[in-house]
Amino acid sequence: MRRVYFDNNATTPVLPEVLEAMRPYFTEHFGNASSIHHHGQQTRAAVEHARESVAALLGCRTGEVVFTSGGTEGDNLAVFGLVGAGDHVITSTIEHHAVLNSCKRLEAMGCEITYVPVDGRGLVDPDDVRRALRSSSKLISIMMANNETGVLQPIEEIGKITADADVYFHTDAVQAAGKVPIEVKRIGCDLLSISGHKMHAPQGIGAIYVGKGTLLQPMLYGGSHERSRRAGTENVPGIVGLGKAAEIAKAALDHGDLVRMAEMRDRIQEKILADVQATGVNGEGAPRVPNTTNIHFDYIEGEALVIALDLKGLAVSTGAACSSGAIEPSHVLTAMGLSADRARASLRFSLGKENTPDDVDFALSLVPETVTRLRELSPVYNKTAIST
Ligand SMILES: Cc1ncc(COP(=O)(O)O)c(C=O)c1O
Repeated sequence: MRRVYFDNNATTPVLPEVLEAMRPYFTEHFGNASSIHHHGQQTRAAVEHARESVAALLGCRTGEVVFTSGGTEGDNLAVFGLVGAGDHVITSTIEHHAVLNSCKRLEAMGCEITYVPVDGRGLVDPDDVRRALRSSSKLISIMMANNETGVLQPIEEIGKITADADVYFHTDAVQAAGKVPIEVKRIGCDLLSISGHKMHAPQGIGAIYVGKGTLLQPMLYGGSHERSRRAGTENVPGIVGLGKAAEIAKAALDHGDLVRMAEMRDRIQEKILADVQATGVNGEGAPRVPNTTNIHFDYIEGEALVIALDLKGLAVSTGAACSSGAIEPSHVLTAMGLSADRARASLRFSLGKENTPDDVDFALSLVPETVTRLRELSPVYNKTAIST
């Protein structure tokens, strides 16, 4: 059975070149990068080479890159590494749970958090961030690209606000890395987290940019790895994989390769909007990363559509979360003003490097007929009401 994977914002396949680069570090180059003998020197050199590649992707110095276990750890490190009881934090309602739940924990520890809203396109207004500032504000954490809609936030403007206010600025760039150029100096951030498995490196590896002079408390205590900012023997194969993926991502961005991906994404959404009634793009009108579109299919249960498409070989996703048996609508889409029903009726299509125009044709051959079939089964769907 043919299978097409359009869920690259959940995770991406490891590229063959990335796997090849990693392979020797599981076998012949197995040394602990902290050992001073030959074996350790070999892996240390590989770790430092990968650090250069990640620094080149982010536009920072090598000494400002700290390897982590992924986006969640980077986000947690940014939040808990800087903020203490009594501090005020500004974040947004559409952050990933790695930031939102860290902020909830801070609230329980006696911190105050302002959650700035987004507009109907999913955009934070920098003026809301400015207005939320207090003398006790310590950190602003606003993501670069949203994982569900792909919407890119005005982080350069927010960076300027944070510089004027002398507040630390963290941005979760997990869904931006490899999809849009990143220049930490232009953004004006102090911290920026990325994750390997969203950019064709393996799961369980990531990195955080920590700008020089950022006084970050570590979360893990142990050896003096990563200049005492992240204790624990380095995950050398993962780090090598992340470095290789960063090199490939940078080359693709430099050569404009993502234009092709944006064209495929645009074809999916244009054709679906043209062929299927009562649909719309969530985040329409906002700048977005080139690989993502989030579309609502009114009168449908998104989970049912995901399952029906999966049975036919197409993998996509909803932003809905199943908690205690009930399907919770996505906090991102409801924050944008979508009704719970419309949010539950929304699907995310997220493309990756390996997708082809044939994959798009395959998806387009399945989606309209599947939606029609499910709507015919739906008690709330009234064909005449939406066709007039
Ligand atoms: C925006 C964003 N931040 C953080 C994370 C967490 O990254 P990881 O899976 O590497 O822990 C994700 C993963 O879905 C994400 O999309």
